[in-house]
Amino acid sequence: MNILIVGSGGREHALGWKLSQSQSVNKVYYCPGNGGTINNLPYSIIDFSKIMSFAIKNNCLVVVGPEEPLTKGIVNELSDRISIFGPTLEATRLEASKSFAKQFMKQNNISTPEFTSFSDPEKAKDFVYNTDKSLVIKADGLAAGKGVVVCENKEDALNAIDSIMIRKNFGNSGNVIVIEERLFGEEVSLIGISDGNTIIPMATAQDHKRIYDNNTGPNTGGMGSFSPSNIIPIDSFNDIINKIMKKTIHAMKKNNTPFVGFLYAGLMIEKDTQKPYVLEYNVRMGDPECQPLMMRMKSDLFNYIKCSISGTLDTLPPLEWYENAAVCVVMAEKGYPSTFEKRNVIHGLNSTFGDNIKIFHAGTLRNDNEVLTDGGRVLGVTALGKDLTHARLEAYEAVKKIHWGKNREYYRKDIGLNG
Ligand code: AMP
Ligand code: GLY
Repeated sequence: MNILIVGSGGREHALGWKLSQSQSVNKVYYCPGNGGTINNLPYSIIDFSKIMSFAIKNNCLVVVGPEEPLTKGIVNELSDRISIFGPTLEATRLEASKSFAKQFMKQNNISTPEFTSFSDPEKAKDFVYNTDKSLVIKADGLAAGKGVVVCENKEDALNAIDSIMIRKNFGNSGNVIVIEERLFGEEVSLIGISDGNTIIPMATAQDHKRIYDNNTGPNTGGMGSFSPSNIIPIDSFNDIINKIMKKTIHAMKKNNTPFVGFLYAGLMIEKDTQKPYVLEYNVRMGDPECQPLMMRMKSDLFNYIKCSISGTLDTLPPLEWYENAAVCVVMAEKGYPSTFEKRNVIHGLNSTFGDNIKIFHAGTLRNDNEVLTDGGRVLGVTALGKDLTHARLEAYEAVKKIHWGKNREYYRKDIGLNG
């Protein structure tokens, strides 16, 4: 069978790389892919009819990477005609509406910070004036990871309400906001693969969301990641899977919106109590968490995807992982996440890299024999090592071999350091 991966990021390159190693997979296509992937199709990720025709003609199982096609209903539209892996539109509400997700967690007794939803900015401001708690303000809908403001004081919170609800900086995504109690602690990404009844967890991973070292500066799509994470003590991993991931899947099934696909819970382990809280759900694989996870996965991912679609995940054993740690350092165009250059020629991609190194492409474009930059996050340089320290060293050795223009590339120097 062939695979068609929808998306163009590092996550999609890593998924395709892993799936291409399966005995059951013949050819991997990408729609639209990037400068590091081959068999790229020139269709938009939301051109569902072209994706469907190609998949039918070429015997492809479709794996959807990003949230946009999922939240626009690609699975609902295509699943009668082809095999497609991902949640339905109804199930994507876990990511597409923060107020829905929060309500869902409250109803189902899934641990999440205290919250209130508002559709009236004046009522939201009254709430801010009348509380002593530290707050986080969240646009209800999708906002490319930018609709969350972690507030230092009341002024930040009032500005966030203005920006999201009055100036509509995220359009209709800001019609409703969630005001949440701010927690302090370490974050970890828990991801599982589900067929609607059963969920099989991935290894733990962590990403680094802020642009600068020591977790400072604005949020980005993710500047690097690593696996495993030691934030969840080994003896509480199963308990967290039961109380968060399994509970989520069972409640979604009970609500007649079964969740099939990769389910991602962004957790914070609260510093004082060591209790886990769900800060967000994503209805897809994490990017860049996917890159180290794919490097560490021993099992054949194709079997798990196939059994998720057919509802038979319970017939498979737990996923197996290499003991090695993996670190992914994202190389970005300088200026990201605000303005940055594009079309710089990338040098050094043909350097000698060990078998333990994989350069996953994201914002790149192939032009004849050259690879050009084509986005903020350009490459995810990923290394396997016997432990986090070694994986880190190897990843940064590889990063040093890659350049585009004088001082145009930017990367954090502390990826994997706090693991
Ligand atoms: P979200 O999209 O809801 O995960 O929020 C994006 C980021 O904002 C998270 O990864 C956290 O770093 C931060 N954040 C969100 N909610 C909270 C919270 N209640 N307390 C502290 N930080 C938070
Ligand atoms: N790395 C965070 C995300 O994929 O949303």
